[in-house]
Amino acid sequence: MQKYLNTLNDNDFTIFKEIESLRDKIIQEDTNIEVLDYGAGDPDDNRSVQEMNQGVIKHVSTKDLCKIGLKNDFAHLLYAIVKKHQPLTVLELGTCCGFSSIYMSKALKDNGTIHTIEGSPQTAQIAQQNFKEAKSLNIKSYTGRFSDVLPSILPKIETIDFAFIDGHHDRDATLQYFKNIKPYLSEDAIVLFDDISWSKGMIEAWEIIKKDNFISSYKDYQKVGLCFMGNA
Ligand SMILES: C[S@@+](CC[C@H](N)C(=O)[O-])C[C@H]1O[C@@H](n2cnc3c(N)ncnc32)[C@H](O)[C@@H]1O
Repeated sequence: MQKYLNTLNDNDFTIFKEIESLRDKIIQEDTNIEVLDYGAGDPDDNRSVQEMNQGVIKHVSTKDLCKIGLKNDFAHLLYAIVKKHQPLTVLELGTCCGFSSIYMSKALKDNGTIHTIEGSPQTAQIAQQNFKEAKSLNIKSYTGRFSDVLPSILPKIETIDFAFIDGHHDRDATLQYFKNIKPYLSEDAIVLFDDISWSKGMIEAWEIIKKDNFISSYKDYQKVGLCFMGNA
C-alpha cells in the first residue's frame, strides 16, 4: 500500500484538500434525508435476501451520510491506483455521496470514464450535485439496484479496466457481482474490494475471491483487497 502512497506528490494532496472541502461543505449544510438501503446494513443486522432486495428505508443526516466511504490513506490509495494505471473504463458499485468517484475522476488524465451505481435516489442526487461542483465530467452515474443496473450497462460498457466494489457488503451478493463483471474485465484489469473484513460474510467472500483462478495476484490491505487479473 505504501508503494502506491509513495507515488503521490504535492499536487495530488492539493486535489485531496479540494475534495475534502466539498465534503466539509455538506457537513456544514446538514439536513435529514430518506435513504433506500439495498445493502446488508450493519454487520450483525442479518438482513434476509428479501429485505435487501426490497430495500430498507432509513432517515439519516447528510452529515453522517457523507462521512461514509473511503477517506485518508484508503481514499489516497484509490486515487493512486487510478493515477498509476489510467484505466479507460472504471466501474464503481456504491456511489454514496460520490466522494470516491471524485477521487478516481481527478486521478484520470484524459480519456477515462467512471460508471458509478447507487441504489438510493436521494443519495444519488447528492452525488450528482457533488460531481457538478467538483467539475467531474468524466463520471456517469446510474441510480438503481446493482442487480438491475448491471445487466443493462455491462453490455454497453463492454470492457472494464478497473472496478471498485463498495456496496451491499453481503457474502453472496459480492460473489455474484464479481461473477457478473468477470466476462467484461480486460486482460490487465484490477478490481478493488472494500470492507473485506467488515463481517463474517465479507471475510468469507474475500477468501473465495482471492483464490479465484481468474486472478493472477492480490494484495490484502486488511480493509481493502486488491486483485490483479494480469501482471500489473
Ligand atoms: C459504503 S457506501 C459507498 C461509499 C463510496 N464508494 C465512497 O467511498 O465514497 C455503499 C453505497 O452502496 C449503496 N448500495 C448498497 N447496496 C446496494 C445495492 N444492492 N444496489 C445499489 N446500491 C447499493 C448504498 O446505498 C451506499 O450508498
